[in-house]
Amino acid sequence: MSTLRLGDIAPDFTANTSQGTLNFYDYLGDSWGILFSHPADFTPVCTTELGTASKFKEEFDKRNVKMMALSVDGADSHNKWILDINETQQTVVNFPIIADEDKKVSNLYDMIHPNADDTLTVRSVFIVAPDKSIKLILTYPASTGRNFYELLRVIDSLQLTAYHKVATPANWKNGDAVVVSPSISTEDAKDIFPKGVEEIKPYLRMTPDPKS
Ligand code: BEZ
Repeated sequence: MSTLRLGDIAPDFTANTSQGTLNFYDYLGDSWGILFSHPADFTPVCTTELGTASKFKEEFDKRNVKMMALSVDGADSHNKWILDINETQQTVVNFPIIADEDKKVSNLYDMIHPNADDTLTVRSVFIVAPDKSIKLILTYPASTGRNFYELLRVIDSLQLTAYHKVATPANWKNGDAVVVSPSISTEDAKDIFPKGVEEIKPYLRMTPDPKS
């Protein structure tokens, strides 16, 4: 078991999945990645989450993000469950689900929280940048399904702030004005952001979305 923190390198692994044996780093290539765990196969909330993730794949593709899910059941079970997900959620599951029967990956990523449940994984999310550093870690209990709009929103923020000296304010969404990084002086910011910089306070400077 390891405790992973933001900025750590995501551990590599090779695992059996619903799409055969896959190596995590090979699967990601130069893309961003999202790895998310589910408590168990044939459970209701997970069924809706995986159906939703499948419907969002085009949006993840647009952002160059590859998805990989995990559940602690076997690949045969996953593939039977996928038929149910496709039927009940009117979709086609289009990304691999790790069959983590020996809990190798769950332990590597600390996805089992014994005080919540000592055998099943909680709903963990790891977002990994192309350099394999971990950019986001989220942990939800089994009883709360994740919001995939929020995952896309946070990926938009992570990608914007990776390439521009900005941060995104509360409730920001793609295209909104952003905050100038505190490390830049207002004078320098005016050169860096030609669309303009509004100094509300010396420490609170806003600029329009710099990427478009
Ligand atoms: C679910 O995915 O529905 C679920 C799994 C474990 C506990 C509670 C709900």
